[in-house]
Parts: sequence; structure tokens; C-alpha cells
Amino acid sequence: MPAHPDSSPAGSPPPQSLPQSALQSPPLWRQLQLTAQALAAIRAGTSGTAAFEAVEPALRPGVQALGFHVIRWLGRAEALRRHLAKRTPPPAADALLCTALALAWDAAAAPYEPFTLVDQAVEAAKRHSGTRAQASFINACLRRFLRERDELVAITDREPVAQWNHPRWWIERLRRAYPRDWQRVLAANNSHAPMTLRVNRLKTDVPAYLESLVLAGLEGVPVADSGVQLRAPRPVHELPGFGAGLASVQDAAAQLAAPLLLGGLRESLGSDSPLRILDACAAPGGKTAHLLEFGGQGGHAGRGGLEVTAVEVDQQRSRRIGETLARLGLEADIRIGDAARPSSWWDGRLFDGVLLDAPCTASGIVRRHPDVRWLRRESDIEQLALQQAMLLASLWPLVRPGGRLLYCTCSVFLEEGAHQIDAFLAHNTDARLLRSPGHLLPQSGEIARAVRDNPLGDHDGFFYALLEKAPH
Ligand SMILES: C[S@@+](CC[C@H](N)C(=O)[O-])C[C@H]1O[C@@H](n2cnc3c(N)ncnc32)[C@H](O)[C@@H]1O
Repeated sequence: MPAHPDSSPAGSPPPQSLPQSALQSPPLWRQLQLTAQALAAIRAGTSGTAAFEAVEPALRPGVQALGFHVIRWLGRAEALRRHLAKRTPPPAADALLCTALALAWDAAAAPYEPFTLVDQAVEAAKRHSGTRAQASFINACLRRFLRERDELVAITDREPVAQWNHPRWWIERLRRAYPRDWQRVLAANNSHAPMTLRVNRLKTDVPAYLESLVLAGLEGVPVADSGVQLRAPRPVHELPGFGAGLASVQDAAAQLAAPLLLGGLRESLGSDSPLRILDACAAPGGKTAHLLEFGGQGGHAGRGGLEVTAVEVDQQRSRRIGETLARLGLEADIRIGDAARPSSWWDGRLFDGVLLDAPCTASGIVRRHPDVRWLRRESDIEQLALQQAMLLASLWPLVRPGGRLLYCTCSVFLEEGAHQIDAFLAHNTDARLLRSPGHLLPQSGEIARAVRDNPLGDHDGFFYALLEKAPH
């Protein structure tokens, strides 16, 4: 799994309900086979992104929609399977059985009639050499499940992993960190993420973009400073002006980075020349672009605009920064290098502002990447926290006196947010915490609407801390 799944996939909307293609051809048994194969790959350590990319393009949307549903309810499916079969069947058969159970266990939310799912899962087993020998066993388990569903679901309700569909260690950590909110966070993680756009305010504005959506037959509501949340996700090529750079896909919480770092920075430095900004972990460039849109000529950063250096350690991912900026008509100095070793890419001139969007567990964006919860190990948190501390320590000397560093992660674990910053402040007396909304917990649907004065609407989990360096 990549250490940092993108919170804003650029090409396709998050799978929500099943597209028509999933209901028609190819037959459901074939789609169940492919979904089970993707699940087996994820269980073997492949990222969800890679597992679904391996499916042939014509079948991918349908299989991915089924797969997201299965991964969201995998804790429940595995618990049911344990009650139905004392011994774990071979991996391919187990993946097919769990796929069918995850899709059928909740009749109200099942994408197909449970009897149809069971018939088609058995057909899928018969038609593949890897599962044929277990077809009768799968049939027996699933028929028993249909007969005893209510009772089996009630039994598995007593197991937290089945109830919340997260690993036990994850549930315990959230319970300790957020004694009042942990259930809300877990429920949000199991919900569908909305598609949120950032309007490019160098080219248009939110009211004008909302109008162009209406003309295109789409609906959205304003969120954050420059955001629009779509009523229903659409492929980006259907969005008005996407190719011309009028809008980008970016979660509402991720849209806080640019205003937090740049708001008031020029005034505080009393400078008229372009602000020198470093985006230290930049690919695929969503926040680099927002910095340039927000602070560009005549923008919020005032006269002089910005000069942005974007650093990325992964060469392949660094190409995506260039693609993102080209579509939006923006420019930055893109460097491939390790942000924790500035000697390999830095020209020695201090920066007015640094954005450190650090690699993290991505525990705040599991709605968009439901596989993350099953692929992560608890020990990853400590390892990533060490990496984050190293990045902070290496980049702080690059901030000019009076300048600012914005630290952020898309994580809800305290070790990657509040605790990280507490430790940094304890060891760096020239740093003060200027502003921090703290850990923004993922909000979803009804819950997000019920939170009063919540300008972000439905958003991912994030952590932000804005640090200021003491003037000379
Ligand atoms: C959370 S993602 C950044 C998302 C990006 N800021 C955006 O908004 O589009 C973190 C990125 O940091 C990169 N990265 C990880 N360690 C790094 C390092 N030591 N130096 C530079 N980049 C690093 C990863 O490859 C990944 O692309």
C-alpha cells in the first residue's frame, strides 16, 4: 500500500452506489469473481488502488463499487464466516465467501437481492478452477446464512470488529483519544465520501461556478472558503471547465491548508516582494496548486504573489505535480528530493512559509480508501511519527525568523498530530503555536449537517498546526 493515498483522486469520483454497468453485463457472477480476487489481493498486502487498477477498464467501475462495499463491511463478513465455518477455507474460496457475506448481510443496504447474490456467488465458485472444489461448501455456508441471518447478525453484533468494521486496535485507540466522539468517527469512516471541488479563484468564483454547475444539470453547495460540494459525484470530464482549470477535486478539510499558511503572513513579515514558499511533501500537487491560487498575483497574499518550491521524494508521483499545475495554468519550481535532507535540493535561501503535509497513516481518509484500515499495522503509527518528527526537525531551520510552518496530516491519531506538535514545541524554544484547529474529525452526511457553524460541511479527518518562528 502506498504510505499516502491521495485524499483527492483526480480522475474518478468516489464509488457510491452501483453504476448501471454493474447491474447489466457482464453477469453478476463474473463481477463477484473479480471483486473476490481484488479482496484476496488486498488481504495479501496490495493497496486497494492497485487491486482495482488490475481489473480491466470496462469492468472496473462496477467491480470497484462492489469492492468498496465489501471492504467497508469486511469485519462483519469475516465474523459471520467464522460462525459459519470453523476452519478457514483456502484464500480464494474465503475471499468469495466473505465477498458474498459482506454484500448480503444487511438486506436493507444490499446492492442486490440476497438470494440473487448467493446464487451468483455459487455460480462464481463453480466457474473458476481456484474455487470449484469449494463450490458446495460455499453453497452450504451461504444457504445457512440466508436461513439464520438475523440470529447470526445478532451474535456478531457482540464483536466490536464486526460491529464497527475496523481492527480492534484502531477502535481502542479512537476510544481512548476521543471518549465522546469515537463512535461518530467510526460511523463516518464507514459512510460514503462526498465529491468536493475547489474553485480556482484566479479564474472564476464560487457563485459563478455554482451557476455553471446548474447549467450543466449538476447541483452543489458552497463549503469552506472556495469549495463546492457536489450533490452527487461525477467523473471530472463532466464538470464544467475542469479541463480549463476552473476547478479541482479536493476535500473541504484539505482546503484549509493554503488559507492557514498564507493568511496574514505577508502583513506579519511586512514584505512587498514575492513570498518564498516551500511545499515539502507535494505530490500530487493539490495543495501546491491551492497555495498558488490563493496567493497568486492579486490574491490573498497581496502584491508580489508567491514563488513556490514543491519537493517530492517519489519521482513518479512528482510528475503528477506538473500535470496538476499545467491544467490550472500555474507554475512552481518542482524538485525531486528527500525533504528531510535539504542539502540535496535547497539553494540555501530561507523560506517565508513552509507547508509540511507529512506522510501519515491516512487514518482520516478511510472513507475514500476503505482498505487502509485493514492494511495498516498499529506499529506503523510509531514509525510514521518518527518520520514526521525528522521532517519537522529538518525543515524548521529553513524557515526565516518571523516566518511560519504549517504542519498537517490526514490522520486522526494523536501521535501524528497533537502529540507530535507538543513534542516539537517542547524542544524548540524559537517556535510558538500560532493557530491550530487541532484534530478535525471526519464529518459525514446528517452528522455534518447537524454540527452548527460547520463551514466545511462533510469532510475528511485532518490535523493542522501553524507554527511561527521567533523574529531575531
Ligand atoms: C500526504 S501526501 C501529500 C499530498 C499533497 N500535499 C497534496 O495535497 O496533493 C505526502 C507526500 O509526501 C511524499 N513524501 C514522503 N516522504 C517524503 C520525503 N522525505 N521527502 C519528500 N516527499 C516525501 C510522498 O511520496 C507523498 O507524495
